[in-house]
Amino acid sequence: MKEKISAIEQEITAEAITNGEQLEQFRIKYLGSKGLIKALFADLKEVPNEQKREVGQLLNGLRTKAQEKFDSQKEALENQDQEEHKLDVTRPGDAIEIGARHPLSLVRSEIIEIFNRIGFSVSEGPEIEDDWHNFSALNFPPEHPARDMQDTFFIEKGEKEMALRTHTSSVQVRVMENSQPPIRTISPGRVYRNEAISARAHCFFHQVEGLYIDKDVSFADLKQTLLYFAKEMFGEKAHIRLRPSYFPFTEPSAEVDVSCTICNGKGCNVCKYTGWLEILGCGMVDPNVLEASNIDSKEYTGFAFGMGVERIAQLKYRVNDLRLYSENDVRFLKQFTGGI
Ligand code: PHE
Repeated sequence: MKEKISAIEQEITAEAITNGEQLEQFRIKYLGSKGLIKALFADLKEVPNEQKREVGQLLNGLRTKAQEKFDSQKEALENQDQEEHKLDVTRPGDAIEIGARHPLSLVRSEIIEIFNRIGFSVSEGPEIEDDWHNFSALNFPPEHPARDMQDTFFIEKGEKEMALRTHTSSVQVRVMENSQPPIRTISPGRVYRNEAISARAHCFFHQVEGLYIDKDVSFADLKQTLLYFAKEMFGEKAHIRLRPSYFPFTEPSAEVDVSCTICNGKGCNVCKYTGWLEILGCGMVDPNVLEASNIDSKEYTGFAFGMGVERIAQLKYRVNDLRLYSENDVRFLKQFTGGI
């Protein structure tokens, strides 16, 4: 037994440990629960009683020796590890990925800039609106079927029934209530409609609506402003056409198409061979709307228009599935590298 102990002792001294794997092997071989030292302790009961004390002490010494070797080698390896990972200031740095702006932010900013250049300010308002600002002040009589044009999310808030705004025309009502003409403003923002989500419809989207009220504002001003916008947004070759339409808050009302940005009006599958793409709704502000906000409709006239940011982005970037804009898939978002 004593010989065995001293043989193992020599073995331990001779054991070379240069990496983590060898260290672990060492631990298993000598210190593990199925290791050599454990086995020797088990053999202790066969040692004659008068030698037990001496052999026991030798065994304890052996175990301490193995443990000490393990500890010191472990520390040495750790130090070595740190040494190897010392900061090397000459190494090239890791590239930091800079984010890109969301395509809808890019398009919204571009729309805002285009209108800023001709004197439109930006106004914002709440997304949770009351009936007055979203409907009544905009000439939607109660129970009028026009309210169904915009599938509304209603919310109960205390006594009052509120709604998620269905358009940012509500912001324009707030501007008219709080200021007197001349008014020249655009209202960008998120709007909500109770629609099933698909490639072509979503329960929320973004709009930029515009309002211009002053003395002698005419339909010709509206048309020229929209032509200017189309050319700035889609290029010098763009032209527009207006088709009669209906909105409760404008009279007359029109829907505006821009000449197809792909085929320049010749006809292709994007414009469904019509040569035209619908981009916005507009019209002359109904006198009832001016009066509802205490603006004298005998003295002032105005025009309004509203466009969907997703729609403009779709034409600009050829992204046909609306859902992509809100899924936040970085593979999609990375492709838009406009200014930060
Ligand atoms: N508010 C209308 C909509 O959301 C758009 C519009 C604005 C139309 C102003 C005409 C004038 O559909």
